[in-house]
Amino acid sequence: MEIKNICCIGAGYVGGPTMAVIAQKCPDINVTVVDINEKRISAWNHENVNNIPIYEPGLSDIVAEARGRNLFFSTDVDGAIDKAEMIFISVNTPTKTYGIGKGMAADLKWIELCARQIACIAKDDKIIIEKSTLPVRTAAALKDILYNTGNGVKYQILSNPEFLAEGTAVQDLLNPDRVLIGGDIDTEEGLEAVKALCNVYARWVPEKRILTTNVWSSELSKLTANAFLAQRVSSINAMSELCEKTGADVNEVAKALGMDSRIGSKFLKSSVGFGGSCFQKDILNLVYIAKSFGLDEVADYWEQVIIMNDHQKRRFADNIIKTLFNTVSGKKIAVLGWSFKKDTNDTRESAAIYVADHLLNEEAEIVVYDPKVEKDQVYSDLDYLNTRSKEANRKNLKVSNDPYDACKDAHAIAILTEWEEFVEYDWEKIYENMLKPAFVFDGRNLLDVKEMLRIGFVLKSIGKPQPIKVMADNTALAS
Ligand code: UDX
Ligand code: ADP
Repeated sequence: MEIKNICCIGAGYVGGPTMAVIAQKCPDINVTVVDINEKRISAWNHENVNNIPIYEPGLSDIVAEARGRNLFFSTDVDGAIDKAEMIFISVNTPTKTYGIGKGMAADLKWIELCARQIACIAKDDKIIIEKSTLPVRTAAALKDILYNTGNGVKYQILSNPEFLAEGTAVQDLLNPDRVLIGGDIDTEEGLEAVKALCNVYARWVPEKRILTTNVWSSELSKLTANAFLAQRVSSINAMSELCEKTGADVNEVAKALGMDSRIGSKFLKSSVGFGGSCFQKDILNLVYIAKSFGLDEVADYWEQVIIMNDHQKRRFADNIIKTLFNTVSGKKIAVLGWSFKKDTNDTRESAAIYVADHLLNEEAEIVVYDPKVEKDQVYSDLDYLNTRSKEANRKNLKVSNDPYDACKDAHAIAILTEWEEFVEYDWEKIYENMLKPAFVFDGRNLLDVKEMLRIGFVLKSIGKPQPIKVMADNTALAS
C-alpha cells in the first residue's frame, strides 16, 4: 500500500515535531497536521519559524525546510481526514477530572471525538494510528466507534507510541532507540498496514530498530516504559533523603550504581521531583487499569512512585521554610526555572508549580524567572490549581525577564529547572545584591558547591550532607 497523504490530528508537543521529521525525511508524502486550536495552528504557520508554538532545539530548521513543500498546518480537520490514507491521532489524553476514574484514569473524550469525526468523514479505507499514549485496549474501543457507522469503509488500527522526550525531541525522532508498531499481525490486512507504517520509518530508521508487536503489547509497552523511567527517578529521590541524613552524597551513590552495566547510568539524577505531561498521568492510568482488574498489589506498587514524587516536591518546599527560620511570610524568594526540565517551554506538572504554590500558602513573595516560559503560562499554571484567587496569585508572584532583577533583595533562591545558563551567571554579583544570609536551594544539583560556598552562600543541595561546609583543605564536607 503506497502512502501519499498523511494527516495528523493534534498539533501539540508530540504531533508537531513527529510530523515535521516525517515530512523532512519523506519529501514525496504530503503531511498535514490539523488542530481545532486556531491560535496554535497560526503559530505553526508564523512566517518567522522561531515563533512556532513549541520550543525544541533544531525543530525550527526542520519546519523551515519542509513547511509549504510537503508539511502543512491547518484547521481544516475534515479536509485532511478525507484526503489521507494514514491518520495519526495525537490529541491530549489528560487524567480525568470528573466522574468514574477521576484523578486516575485517562480521559479519552478527545480520542473518541476524533474517531467519530473520522467515521463521519471517511469515504475510503484508512490506516488509523494511535500516537497518543493510551490505556491498553483502547484500539478495541476505536474499532467499535469506527465500524458502527455502516458506510463500508475498512480501517486498520495501529499503535505507534512516541518515545521522544521533550528538549531532545528532534534527536530522539531522528535517531530513535526503537520504533514500536503494534497491529493486527494475525491478518493479512493488518500485516499490510503495519508494513505501510514500517516503510515510512524505514526511510531513516534502521530496520533492526523497528519492532512490530500485537496492538496490546504496544499500548502496554508505552505505559510500562514511562513507569520504569519514573520509578528510577523516585528511587534515587528516595535515596537522596537518606543521603541528607547520613552524610552520603547522592551523586556519588548514583555514579557507583550507574557503573553497574545491569543498572545503567541514565535517569539517576536526583531532583526536586519529576514533572512533564507523561509520567504522572501514565502511572495513574496504569494504577487504574491494575485496580480495575482487581490487581491491588500491582496498583499499590506503582502508586508508590507518585507518592514518593509528591513527597520530594513537598519536602523541598518545607526545607526552604524550615531553613528560613520557620517562616517565609513577606520574604522574597526567587524561583529560577519554571519548565519541567531544561530546553523546553513545557510546564505541565512541573515541580516548580507545586513548590511555588506551597510557598505562596506560607505568604512568601515569589519572583519567577525562566528563559523560555511566558508570563501568562506561569499564571495559568497557578490559577489551574485553584488554591487562591487569580488576583492573589498576581499580587504575590511576579514574573521577571531578568534573572538578576529576580534575585535582587531576595532572602533565598530556589533552582527548579536545570537550565544551563544558570551555571554561567555572575553569582558574586547575585550574592552582593541579596539579603544575608543568602540562601540557595539547588533542586537540580546544578551549581558548583565549593564555589557557591566560597562566595558566601548558604547552599542546600538535594541529597548532599546538610549543612555543607568548606574545609581548610578546600573539600566540601558535612559539618
Ligand atoms: C518522558 C519519556 O522520557 C519519553 O520517552 C516519553 O515519550 C514521554 O515522557 P519527558 O517527560 O519529555 O519524556 O522528559 P524526561 O526526560 O523523561 O523527564 C521527565 C521528568 O523527570 C523531568 O521533570 C526531569 O527533570 C525528571 N528527571 C529525569 C529527573 O528528575 N531525573 C532524571 O534522572 C531524569
Ligand atoms: P501532546 O503533548 O500529547 O502532543 P498537546 O496537548 O500538546 O498534547 O496537544 C494535543 C493537541 O490536540 C492540542 O493542540 C489540541 O487542541 C488538539 N486536539 C484535541 N482534540 C482535537 C480534535 N478533536 N481535533 C483536532 N485537534 C484536537
